[in-house]
Amino acid sequence: MTETTYNYKVVRQFAIMTVVWGIVGMLVGVIIAAQLAFPTMTEMLPEVFQQYLQYGRLRPLHTNAVIFAFGGSALFATSYYIVQRTCQTRLFASGLAGFTFWGWNLIIVLAAVSLPLGFTSGKEYAELEWPIDLLIAVVWVSYALVFFGTILKRKVKHIYVANWFFGAFILTIAILHIVNSAAIPVTLTKSYSFYPGAIDAMIQWWYGHNAVGFFLTAAFLGMMYYFVPKQAGRPVFSYRLSVVHFWALVSIYMWAGPHHLHYTALPDWTQSVGMVFSLILLAPSWGGMINGIMTLSGAWHKLRTDPVLKFLIVSLSFYGMSTFEGPMMSIKTVNALSHYTDWTVGHVHSGALGWVAMVAIGSLYGLIPKLFGREGMFSTALVELHFWIATIGVVLYIAAMWIAGVMQGLMWRAVNSDGTLTYSFIESVERTYPFYNVRLLGGTMFLFGMLLMAYNVWKTVANAQPAQDVIPEAAH
Ligand code: HEM
Ligand code: HEM
Repeated sequence: MTETTYNYKVVRQFAIMTVVWGIVGMLVGVIIAAQLAFPTMTEMLPEVFQQYLQYGRLRPLHTNAVIFAFGGSALFATSYYIVQRTCQTRLFASGLAGFTFWGWNLIIVLAAVSLPLGFTSGKEYAELEWPIDLLIAVVWVSYALVFFGTILKRKVKHIYVANWFFGAFILTIAILHIVNSAAIPVTLTKSYSFYPGAIDAMIQWWYGHNAVGFFLTAAFLGMMYYFVPKQAGRPVFSYRLSVVHFWALVSIYMWAGPHHLHYTALPDWTQSVGMVFSLILLAPSWGGMINGIMTLSGAWHKLRTDPVLKFLIVSLSFYGMSTFEGPMMSIKTVNALSHYTDWTVGHVHSGALGWVAMVAIGSLYGLIPKLFGREGMFSTALVELHFWIATIGVVLYIAAMWIAGVMQGLMWRAVNSDGTLTYSFIESVERTYPFYNVRLLGGTMFLFGMLLMAYNVWKTVANAQPAQDVIPEAAH
């Protein structure tokens, strides 16, 4: 391959795997949602299999698969595409880029095997054991070399704002992963955290919250800043706002982690710092949402006919919703009600399904035809159908969890006049079942939408010639 064309091969590989891992991760999500609604369902299986499919092992498999396999592949694909297009140069070190694809997928397969077998470090979103953690560090540093190498050899002076978001995400995740995963290995499959007690908890949630802030937010904002203007055929509403909210977002996110540890052994002042920074975080978050949505100014009519744009704009609305809800939940008195309840799970999925999955799906619908030299997706009607099924699915999921969560919180704190509890815990579980069924329905709808997408993608790429876009002459 010559230096005159963009490297789309690795972009195509990651783009296709996004759909595959999306289906796998969400299928596991639907299975654990079913396990919560029907707790005895795995008892039908032969006893040898039951331990591998128990809820406690499948839950981290779900979170790892949707965040790192589905979300991660979408981010690799779009960042590799965007950095080349906006820097008007071929990807730096194509061989290394190919290595990141195979390395990342190997990590995913190792996760899919080791988690059901019960190997875990017990840290949420960082469950994988130390040999896999080392591999993640190697792949991630390679990713950084490819990305920043491409920025360095760019043919245009300006660095487009999407790359700022991707750059911050790549750097921060490297630091978070390496610091939080520090551990003392005991055997090949068992290690103990390097940090003691409350320090361990604090570092874990510094990591956990910034995984949300940089993996599930900053990087997806990078995706948004390229695909929303492209799809709308308009420039970004305010370039200045994008730069201001970038710096505000990356500097404030770092301090909000302790809101995950309210009323714990953490020093009280750190909890207050976490709460205050979370409240301030509302402003830059909404800066991003407003900038994205307002990019449609003068092109609102396109929303009527373009389902890809619908995915993108609705994702921004969910982003706005979840970043309003998050700061509210970080207020200690609100958290006293919401923590441990399904309200948190509702919040998570309004961000994860409503924002992350919807913006990724919309961007892929915009990207895949370009990678395979097609005018558009095989069927726009199927994209439209996917949009409605997914949107209704998310709404059912999160509304059910919100109601269930507030109900649980209120039932747990209700006391009689003599000081005894009004409800036993099991009563709150019983009352939650109808909501678990609604969540299962919403999740199944979302998964069905992904299957429609897979079919549509298959029909779009089958017999297509891989696109080989030439880098503009003037840029050489
Ligand atoms: C079909 C779609 C999905 C279904 C049915 C589903 C279902 C579930 C269920 C049942 C749980 C466990 C809740 C609990 O322990 O009470 C969960 C947790 C979680 N899911 Fe999903 N999920 C889906 C999609 C996603 C996506 C796309 C993402 C991320 C991009 C995601 C991220 C998470 C996270 C981070 C948690 C842990 C939440 C916490 O610890 O509070 N999920 N999901
Ligand atoms: C301004 C932005 C945000 C703030 C201040 C915020 C705040 C919070 C708070 C207070 C909790 C509950 C902690 C607890 O009681 O345990 C939480 C949980 C969570 N949030 Fe957010 N949130 C924000 C945005 C988002 C977005 C956009 C996403 C997803 C894309 C997200 C994903 C999560 C996850 C995965 C958890 C569950 C963590 C766990 O316990 O496993 N958040 N967030």
